[in-house]
Amino acid sequence: MSAIDTNTMTMTRFVIMQQRQQPEATGELTTLLNALLTAIKAVSSAVRKAGIAKLYGISGSTNVQGEEVKKLDVLSNDLFINMLKSSFTTCLLVSEENDTHIEVEVERQGKYIVCFDPLDGSSNIDCLVSIGSIFSIYKKESSSSPSLADVLQPGRKLVAAGYALYGSATMIVLALGNGPVNGFMLDPAIGEFILTDPDMRIKPRGKIYSINEGYEAQWDEAVTEYVKSKKHPQTGKAYGARYVGSMVADVHRTLKYGGIFMYPATKDSPKGKLRLLYEGNPMAFIIEKAGGLASTGRIPILDVQPQSIHERVPVFLGSRDDVQDLIDCYKRH
Ligand code: AHM
Ligand code: MG
Repeated sequence: MSAIDTNTMTMTRFVIMQQRQQPEATGELTTLLNALLTAIKAVSSAVRKAGIAKLYGISGSTNVQGEEVKKLDVLSNDLFINMLKSSFTTCLLVSEENDTHIEVEVERQGKYIVCFDPLDGSSNIDCLVSIGSIFSIYKKESSSSPSLADVLQPGRKLVAAGYALYGSATMIVLALGNGPVNGFMLDPAIGEFILTDPDMRIKPRGKIYSINEGYEAQWDEAVTEYVKSKKHPQTGKAYGARYVGSMVADVHRTLKYGGIFMYPATKDSPKGKLRLLYEGNPMAFIIEKAGGLASTGRIPILDVQPQSIHERVPVFLGSRDDVQDLIDCYKRH
């Protein structure tokens, strides 16, 4: 067998193949995903050489060549916006970095709406801990000109969602339509994402709980009882604790190893910290498609009707049985 695979399943090839299986598909989603791929590759490259290129620090500071450099999260946001707009496939964009939704110029409009967090895990950027990008894609349903109302759709309506993890390697996890969840690893030598984790499924039960325990005094009774039961089980072994503080890394570990990731409501922050449109929903979409559960504690995250673009939502996601235990705790309180 040749050492070099000359028939590799790249992400681009995979998406084209999926498109071909749906005769009514126009190729617009394929073009959109290709634009996202370009943005993600550029962000990945910037993340990898951020130190050398002095991309960290205050936005607008000057690098050794005397050129203006952008902070990594600003650069990532610009890349996402520019690539998406120039793909002619989107009409509305929502970014964590922009206060209001972005309307694509009429002459460049397409039928999709993309919500994204271009670089999530801001507190981990400067210490080289894993960070990521998250995106979700809706189709515009109304025939009127694009407006805020088109963006405020529950996650159940998503067409696709995914994330890129800039970890020890760069990986994209993509959930497309009714298909399974697939993982693609970046091969930096050819600049292509290769299908390495086909049909990702999450274990029905894991051994890890993941939460910022520093806020314990602010949790409600259900979360307090649940975490206590994992640390001091009446039977069996206690769960291990893992918490990176980058949602993409914590969710990816949960998808791969099983267990539960939690960002609950706290007294100071009654809806938690994470944002529904570009953090809660895309991750919930992926985890549900992989066989897990994603809940606010009371209802599935995907069923929450958004009221505003930056609204927050409590997040409990992961292995089916683990999340169900948490939901049962809420039923008792
Ligand atoms: P950010 O968008 O400012 O980066 O915040 C989101 C991040 C998530 O990646 C992570 O799950 C969470 O904040 C961690 O928050 P905390 O430091 O409160 O535990
Ligand atoms: Mg974020």
